[in-house]
Amino acid sequence: MGIQALPVTIEVHLTNGLPRLSIVGLPETAVKESQDRVRSALINSQFEFPLQRVTINLAPADLPKEGGRFDLAIALGILAASRQIPSDDLSHYEFVGELALNGDLRPVRGVLPMALEARDAQRQVVVPYDNATEASMVSGASILPVKHLLDFCLHLQNITPIIPYCTEHTPDSATVYHIADLSDVRGQYHAKRALEVAAAGGHNLLMMGPPGTGKTMLASRMPGILPPMAENEALETATVASIAVGGFDADLWGIRPFRAPHHTASGVALVGGGSHPRPGEISRAHNGILFLDELPEFDKRVLEVLREPMESGYIIISRAAHQAEFPANFQLVAAMNPCPCGYRGDSNNRCQCNPQQVNRYRSKISGPLLDRIDLHIEVPNLPRAELRQDRTSESSADVRARVIAAREIQIQRCGKQNSLLSSKDIDSHCRLKENDERLLDTAIEQLGLSARAWYRILKVARTIADLSNSENIQTSHLTEAITYRRLERKKI
Ligand SMILES: Nc1ncnc2c1ncn2[C@@H]1O[C@H](COP(=O)(O)OP(=O)(O)OP(=O)(O)O)[C@@H](O)[C@H]1O
Ligand SMILES: [Mg+2]
Ligand SMILES: [Zn+2]
Repeated sequence: MGIQALPVTIEVHLTNGLPRLSIVGLPETAVKESQDRVRSALINSQFEFPLQRVTINLAPADLPKEGGRFDLAIALGILAASRQIPSDDLSHYEFVGELALNGDLRPVRGVLPMALEARDAQRQVVVPYDNATEASMVSGASILPVKHLLDFCLHLQNITPIIPYCTEHTPDSATVYHIADLSDVRGQYHAKRALEVAAAGGHNLLMMGPPGTGKTMLASRMPGILPPMAENEALETATVASIAVGGFDADLWGIRPFRAPHHTASGVALVGGGSHPRPGEISRAHNGILFLDELPEFDKRVLEVLREPMESGYIIISRAAHQAEFPANFQLVAAMNPCPCGYRGDSNNRCQCNPQQVNRYRSKISGPLLDRIDLHIEVPNLPRAELRQDRTSESSADVRARVIAAREIQIQRCGKQNSLLSSKDIDSHCRLKENDERLLDTAIEQLGLSARAWYRILKVARTIADLSNSENIQTSHLTEAITYRRLERKKI
């Protein structure tokens, strides 16, 4: 349910009568098919399949059950009910795993949240061997990996005890981060500064400029300057991956996700859904970056759905039977051209678009969506000479060091990044001097911005102050924050 693993109890009852097996408790196709897999697996593991009426109940009955993950528990239930294995100790364990016809265990999705739940219930969790690394990401969980049904039976009878699985998995974040370095991008200091501010406070960013000026290049270097993830953030992000299509990848543990869905992506792919709701791109980008390149090319309805999670940090997917909630605290980085042909505002006046075309293009991004993007910047065409000369760019590591320092100040102050500050936090931590209050009021009025923009500008100003290690927001910090909103209202 969402990213939560709810415990399911499996009851097995054997009675005399015509041999028949029935599974009750809202099983879906893959669960119903479990009886065929379990029967073959038991027989192929030299057990006997009871020649009796077998009733299997999956409780709670109103929770829809899907997938093959109940196979192992069903098989052990049948073995215990027919007294082929001792049943006393079974209640100390949680079981998960799909059976192959020969009794081997196949990996399943969602093992990480299950391990989390089992740890909190203080039970050992028995998982398919191929899921062991994933499960062991939950610190303090006791994981028993099994390759074959018989492995656990031997463990239960104390013949060959299984050794709990431990991993000291520390992926080398340096290799993932430093494929693309910020120093590859020449010039564009304004854009790089905005990238740094966005990274430091977790603010959303929109880049606008003609083709080939480095927008995509800049965005893809964003993960390299973000601060490392805290343990609980890493766990949340891995949990989402664990239940998503594609699954968990141990090599990405602790690395902020960077998701860049194509503009043809469907609503379900982007925000999540399906009859058994699965997380979409916005949830897979949880605690990381959602990069929407060519923003106006996205379906407008799809973009509108982003508004809700951008404020709340989660998404609720409602289905007739139940609701699923997925975390979606992503940082939006978007890129677009200024007009359909791309050359509006270019020094050579190459743009052929008429004002209606430009308007139609820009109106694909609604006001409310723009309002939620804190930093709007132009990424202009650079003079060739500047491109050639600029050789002294800073590396991602240098920028990242400043970002980390600024983020630490934020965590110390409020326990969270500036982009997550509530209006109450803002009132107490983003105070302005009297003159600056007036300055901000005038700017808001001139630019025709909303109350939300007012708060968002203050958050950005706070981040800029934190980057220069200043306790109070100074006038220069505020004016910089305001400049990042100017583009929004710029006359076309
Ligand atoms: N500032 C720059 N420094 C170094 N290389 C650059 C710069 N700008 C562009 N390039 C080069 O141009 C290529 C295209 O850049 P990029 O894909 O980032 O452009 P873009 O702004 O996203 O364009 P589009 O609007 O067409 O998507 C890059 O792969 C890089 O080789
Ligand atoms: Mg691009
Ligand atoms: Zn144009």
